[in-house]
Amino acid sequence: MKKYFLLFLLFTIFSCKEEVQTSTEPIPVKGLITENAMVVSARKEASKVGIHILKKGGNAFDAMIATEMALAVAFPYAGNLGGGGFMVYRTEFGEIGTLDFREKAPIEAYSNMFLSEDGEYISEKSKLGGLAVGVPGTIAGIFSVHEKFGTLPIEEVLSPVIELAEKGIVITEQQSERLKKFKEIIFETNGDHSIFTKQYVEGDTLRNIALANTLKRIAEYGRQEFYQGETGEKLVNYIQSKGGIITMDDLDAYGTEWREPIVFNYKNLKIISMSPPSSGGICLAQILKSIEPFPISEYGHNSLKAIQLITEAERRSYADRSYYLGDPDFVDVPVDTLISDAYIQSRMEDFTFDNATSSQNLSYGTIPGYESEETTHYSIIDQFGNAIAVTTTLNAAYGSKLYVRELGFFLNNEMDDFSAKPGEPNMFGLIGGEANAIVPQKRMLSSMTPTIIEKDGALWMSVGTPGGSKIITSVMQTILNVYEFKMNMQEAVNAPRFHHQWLPDVVTFEPDVFSKELFIELERKGYTIEEKPSIVIGLVDGILVLEDGRLEGGADHRGDDTAVGF
Ligand code: GLY
Repeated sequence: MKKYFLLFLLFTIFSCKEEVQTSTEPIPVKGLITENAMVVSARKEASKVGIHILKKGGNAFDAMIATEMALAVAFPYAGNLGGGGFMVYRTEFGEIGTLDFREKAPIEAYSNMFLSEDGEYISEKSKLGGLAVGVPGTIAGIFSVHEKFGTLPIEEVLSPVIELAEKGIVITEQQSERLKKFKEIIFETNGDHSIFTKQYVEGDTLRNIALANTLKRIAEYGRQEFYQGETGEKLVNYIQSKGGIITMDDLDAYGTEWREPIVFNYKNLKIISMSPPSSGGICLAQILKSIEPFPISEYGHNSLKAIQLITEAERRSYADRSYYLGDPDFVDVPVDTLISDAYIQSRMEDFTFDNATSSQNLSYGTIPGYESEETTHYSIIDQFGNAIAVTTTLNAAYGSKLYVRELGFFLNNEMDDFSAKPGEPNMFGLIGGEANAIVPQKRMLSSMTPTIIEKDGALWMSVGTPGGSKIITSVMQTILNVYEFKMNMQEAVNAPRFHHQWLPDVVTFEPDVFSKELFIELERKGYTIEEKPSIVIGLVDGILVLEDGRLEGGADHRGDDTAVGF
């Protein structure tokens, strides 16, 4: 009887029509709703590949591997083989955990490697070319996931990705704009032309045969192809030819880590997020717990008081981030204290609605910096009830801009996430301390915040975003939007966002969506406002489990993000 029921269930699932919702104009006010499973990612092709694997009977972890690789094909801006990332998961049985596949500093790295003889920070060295590259973790990551949770053979999981790379992806308007912006620097960094130095227009097809071939070898020979085999050797030769210091020993020594997540309660939510070497979970906990005692829903969404409260909680948390956080395998991070009620209460003691706290008086560092958009996030919930949240990155757009033409992928510039010189900001304007100094084999501090949430003990949400230092604050606002301000998943993703990170002491707003009256009131209280036309604050993708058990996707209309499900 049980067998027939299972067969019936499988038939019902696999005969379900696949549904797609791309977040392009007009901006949807309700996300895609499906009965069984969903993938939300930065590209339709990648979400479809993930769903294809689920419909074949694979689970969320098989779909993770396929989606991760499909993003390297369809979204090379951040999707990668040459980068790293973090996964947070909750299985159908309620087990929770995280995987750290973050890049590492090479064995020959040293603390002053980005400083001149006079001790001046040469910022370009940590951003462009060979020295900027950290030892990639993504391929080790997908094999760790496969080993622990995978159910389909790796060849079967990678097969639709290889097909996608061979058949090609259709260039979107945003993609053609990005390639136009970066093709010159990609050419200059590599010194020759490739498929990424051509100009594409919307609707063109981009095929990546070199990447298809690399994936075929990985499908055949496994993890070792990347870390010991032909792919690894070509990779190391290329990095060294561009002034990098990564050797075969670095690839050989690379390993992923299954880490305990950061787990905390916000009212009746149990929030499960990424632990160090990402700052995401700790900062998310600090900010939400600072807000919790206040009746924020009564203040109103994006009201003066809500913005003040959130900004002040963010200010205090980012000040702590800069000082305390780093790779826990190298430094002691006082996690329990940082997210304890007593500590957070003491940090918020001097908060008042009367006027802004000054970041200068609060803690370390003084130098302003800039923000950009990169990294990518995807969320998956499968038909069995497994949920994952994965954020993965090359750091900057197309990483170090080094494109290994023979292998078909870009290399990260994650070394810029270390504090090259304490007090100097990285590309996100984030200021780091000794805890995040460069040490061989150490992982650089991240802001990535893949997050899974339970409500009253049941799976409720999977969420995350790219956005450098703005990742944490975007995830946090999306959670509040659904929980406190009663938005659906898509509305929560659509809602205008703002950001503060201690230094520079400015509150950054999405352009043209907040009122001038609000800015005047904030300025009166001592806040400095930043509102530039180019600012995008995160590209949030999430899935919400509705009360009736169906899934609602939230795919960010600010990008080409797409929900696919059945
Ligand atoms: N590279 C951006 C981050 O890890 O936060």
